[in-house]
Amino acid sequence: MDNRGYYDGFGGAFIPEILVATFDELVDAYMDAKADSGFWREYEQIMSSYSCRPTPLTFAGNLTEHFGGAKIYIKREDLNHTGAHKANNVMGQGLLVKRMGKKRVIAETGAGQHGVATATMAARFGFNCTIYMGEVDVERQRPNVFWMERLGAEVIPVKEGTRILKDAINEAFRDWVTNMDTTHYVLGTACGPHPFPEMVTYFQSIIGKEARKQILELEGVLPKRVYACVGGGSNAMGIFSDFMDDPVELVGVEAGGEGLESSRHASRLSSKDASIGVAQGYKTYFLQDDDGQMKETHSIAAGLDYVGVSPILSHLKETGRVRFEAAMDHEVVDALSFTIRKEGLIPALESSHAFVQAFKEASELSGDDILIINQSGRGDKDIFTVADAFKDPGWEKFIIKKAEGYNA
Ligand SMILES: Cc1ncc(COP(=O)(O)O)c(C=O)c1O
Repeated sequence: MDNRGYYDGFGGAFIPEILVATFDELVDAYMDAKADSGFWREYEQIMSSYSCRPTPLTFAGNLTEHFGGAKIYIKREDLNHTGAHKANNVMGQGLLVKRMGKKRVIAETGAGQHGVATATMAARFGFNCTIYMGEVDVERQRPNVFWMERLGAEVIPVKEGTRILKDAINEAFRDWVTNMDTTHYVLGTACGPHPFPEMVTYFQSIIGKEARKQILELEGVLPKRVYACVGGGSNAMGIFSDFMDDPVELVGVEAGGEGLESSRHASRLSSKDASIGVAQGYKTYFLQDDDGQMKETHSIAAGLDYVGVSPILSHLKETGRVRFEAAMDHEVVDALSFTIRKEGLIPALESSHAFVQAFKEASELSGDDILIINQSGRGDKDIFTVADAFKDPGWEKFIIKKAEGYNA
């Protein structure tokens, strides 16, 4: 990366003039914190006492036996407070907000996970908190809206555009332009203008640092492959970053939705449907039409349907350092179901994309090879989406009964 946040042409900071000073302040605070050896210790301390770090690296003995090839290990980001890796990023940015002396945080959220994590951080640190969420996502993710509000956040449904994540990001930027003196925008993934891709990766790198140390302690050798799902790219960058200089194959798995030929997917780096463009303050691969209008995306996992992707991952695609694959919705539901039954683990629908690809490849490898799958979040919090995906009749009845109770 150069000092303007470019990764061989991807990234940068395409921001309005009025935000330049705010971004400079953020870059300075981040650089100061990085240079201060006490900062990372403070970060690790809060993550261990508040968010169960280090998260375990679990040997999946039953899956390993079933596929009969490589040993399968699972990095347990689902055990973070609030149920996903999102906690790593928000707690890190929260510590920076304290250093900058700001008192208000705003965030965008799609699936609601990042919103809940940000509202939790704000409650813990005593910040005012506003969360922007597309109106469609507010409807889809009511339980997360409920928790954000209980945590003291104001949730603003965004009625512009297609009323999903990208529209929430636009609205959050509008707020930031108006309130930049008092407010920090806690961007939720390794996207957006510099320094967000690098800074979010820095906080999420705690995943890879732990996983590398744990596998060496447990097995004495590095894994052959590491798998992570890719929405904006933060959990993938987090687990990949410490293996970047090792002879380890890194595999990012995107949302193949209803298939790459269907146009109902969100595969930016594993399909030919995306092209390079500038939007939302940075340059990367976007799913856009010939006029640069963002296309509609689809995934069974609300956290994977973003139109853009981390500029760092776009760069790593071009260099060939990371291989990108796509998992289809029905494969994701099967992999989730299988993992629940075999190991008693409940990965989020997002994380289950990484499981799909690892399952496809495990049996081709030898018993001396090791795979690590990043379980970025837990699925039991997603009970509404997961139960819908399984088309569970008992659950449907329960929901109807509940609704009747409210209407009575
Ligand atoms: C559990 C989980 N995993 C993965 C993602 C995708 O985000 P990212 O690619 O930034 O890790 C999300 C986003 O909401 C998520 O909730």
